[in-house]
Amino acid sequence: MPTLNWIGKDKVVTHHNDVPFRVLDHKYTFGDTPDSGNMIIHGDNLEALKALLPEYENRIKCIYIDPPYNTGNENWVYNDNVNDPHIRKWLKDIFHEKGITTDDLTRHDKWLCMMYPRLVLLQKLLSKDGAIFISIDDNEHANLKLICEEIFGTTNFIAQVIWERAYAPINLKKHFSTSHDYILCYAKKIEDLNCNGLPRKAETDSKYKNPDNDPRGLWRTDNLAVGPIVENQVYEITTPSGRKVMPPKGYCWRLTKERFDEYVADNRIWFGENGDLVPAPKRFLSEVKQSMTPMTVWKYTEVGHSQDAMRQLRDIFDGEVVFDYPKSVDLIKRCLELYSDKDSIILDSFAGSGTTAHAVLNLNKQDGGNRKFILCEMCDYAETITAERVRRVIKGYGEGRNAVEGTGGSFDFYELGETIFDPVTGNLNDCADTEAIRRYVWFSETNSAYSHPSKDAHPYLLGTYQHNNYYFYYKKDEETCLDWDFLNTLTEKDKAEMYIIYADRCVLTEEEMMRHNIRFKKIPRDIKRV
Ligand SMILES: C[S@@+](CC[C@H](N)C(=O)[O-])C[C@H]1O[C@@H](n2cnc3c(N)ncnc32)[C@H](O)[C@@H]1O
Repeated sequence: MPTLNWIGKDKVVTHHNDVPFRVLDHKYTFGDTPDSGNMIIHGDNLEALKALLPEYENRIKCIYIDPPYNTGNENWVYNDNVNDPHIRKWLKDIFHEKGITTDDLTRHDKWLCMMYPRLVLLQKLLSKDGAIFISIDDNEHANLKLICEEIFGTTNFIAQVIWERAYAPINLKKHFSTSHDYILCYAKKIEDLNCNGLPRKAETDSKYKNPDNDPRGLWRTDNLAVGPIVENQVYEITTPSGRKVMPPKGYCWRLTKERFDEYVADNRIWFGENGDLVPAPKRFLSEVKQSMTPMTVWKYTEVGHSQDAMRQLRDIFDGEVVFDYPKSVDLIKRCLELYSDKDSIILDSFAGSGTTAHAVLNLNKQDGGNRKFILCEMCDYAETITAERVRRVIKGYGEGRNAVEGTGGSFDFYELGETIFDPVTGNLNDCADTEAIRRYVWFSETNSAYSHPSKDAHPYLLGTYQHNNYYFYYKKDEETCLDWDFLNTLTEKDKAEMYIIYADRCVLTEEEMMRHNIRFKKIPRDIKRV
């Protein structure tokens, strides 16, 4: 498979491994339900995605991202030239120690360096039956396609959608006035991905009638003639009126003679009111797929255009323009309709004005779903624009005739917090939140998502995985010891094939541990400080 190379690629292909695990610092809950599962995270998505990994690896059903297109425009509310101070610093940091100055990189190199490790983490977060949608335009489309083929695999390519984002040409343009964006769509594992299709349109269904009062309900006709010719499907048909009919030149009938006779016996062939028309098989509405297969060109008449998106956002913010080039809610809603279920988790790690959360809330309201959203936004407007939009959508906005009813819902707002390990010593960072440490330890042991054990479980139990119990015997300000006192706290409920127990020290003998199927793991921390 051809692969793309660029300056700095070798520094970023495994960079996701070097990103420290951070704690997500809970700042506040909006709405009535704390821990609703809806999250807005303020911070660089590389660290935010890594922080999500212990809990969400293989769990995200649908990802929509709209990264900066790298247009070179630095004057929007966000920087569209990979030149935001956060990203500049991040690039500088990873290249500095390798002796490369970022001046050696073109803007395309920088963009690819930024995207690659983030896409790797997104791929890990995607569930086996999940799909990712990535908006992009001509600036980086070709590069993005190649790195996606590398990260997601060529066989997992689903489609390249064209979104008609403009409805009129800009006549000042010298050559073409571009009126579309692309949306690349990949599966984590194409064999496991199901497409829900699109809801059938009333207009399509209106073509179905029932002139002969068939008890099977509404139907429309199909063509009986098809090409190219299959010899044994060319035969004469006599209509009820006595007319003899042959397929047109170069065509045959779609059914063999035997099958055709079965169709006639089952009243599945229509010869017209007077029994004189060219025969046509009936297609019953009750037998067709209840959804429509999506096409790859998404017209603004169906999913909105850029101006619609700007207007939607202005309406939410009392007429103020707070963000440049948001996406339309219906555009993202369509992605979700195709590849999410009512209880799916949806992720957008380049959240901007929060359109993805808006689409999730609207879709839940429409179909009674309980989808959850996770948004990451690096800029400080994560609170004043991203979260504020979501708040207004939940509560309702606008006045009088323009009032839009709230969708209801809640979310939790997070900042990126402490690293779980001290970056210098590699020891556990005692300032980090204990629950986040437990989550990390579980993930590193089992490579699976952590869910907190029930209230009546052993206080130090992390969980059971493949018949093995994992315990994290950790006290922030006290040294812990794996001894008989600890073992005596285990009850009948703790029975397992093997016991993996983390503690600061262990005084059990090798033989005792062998006899009771115990494996001791030392907590990596500086005990002197305890
Ligand atoms: C094109 S905008 C997304 C617009 C969004 N789809 C909407 O409808 O409002 C890209 C957003 O990604 C954010 N962003 C860029 N790099 C990021 C990073 N490393 N981590 C988190 N957010 C980032 C930018 O600040 C910007 O808000």
